[in-house]
Amino acid sequence: MHTVKAIYPGTFDPLTNGHLDLIARGSKIVDELVVAILRNSEKGTPLFTVPEREEMITEATRSFGNVSVTTFNGLLVDFARQQGAKAVLRGIRAISDYEYEFQMAMMNRKLDPELETLFMMPAEKYTYVSSRLIKGVFQLGGDVTALVPPLVVERLKAKVPNRL
Ligand code: PNS
Repeated sequence: MHTVKAIYPGTFDPLTNGHLDLIARGSKIVDELVVAILRNSEKGTPLFTVPEREEMITEATRSFGNVSVTTFNGLLVDFARQQGAKAVLRGIRAISDYEYEFQMAMMNRKLDPELETLFMMPAEKYTYVSSRLIKGVFQLGGDVTALVPPLVVERLKAKVPNRL
């Protein structure tokens, strides 16, 4: 039988409803979806530790029968090969995402021509949502309850108790 395993890699600091929407869409078209959190991200100091992010994603994706959560270091293509995955899933929200995603997809193809990148678009209502904006808005006292899972709101409140 022909089964397709895909990796959904990212920083997920924290998981948003946009990520969750993409996980739901991806889990319908592949047999197995592995959400993989990059451990050695170059994005600066994260708000949540890797174990905290892993816990949040595991909790939020519990109802999906074919989704698992793990972490990785180093090259995505090496991790995908270790996992026996044929594809990488990435979300594209707007044209502004395209250049970065195109470069990554082409570099990954150069590094491993057998690994395909699948792009999917999240629901329109999440096209402007990013982890960076969620953190910024929450820290300034804004309401993000419609944009992240409830368990992420609780974790944000615990992590940033003295927000404006
Ligand atoms: O959610 P993000 O931060 O946009 O995800 C970026 C991620 C984790 C997919 C990307 O940084 C990555 O794959 N890093 C692993 C290192 C790697 O393989 N680099 C070469 C591909 S350009």
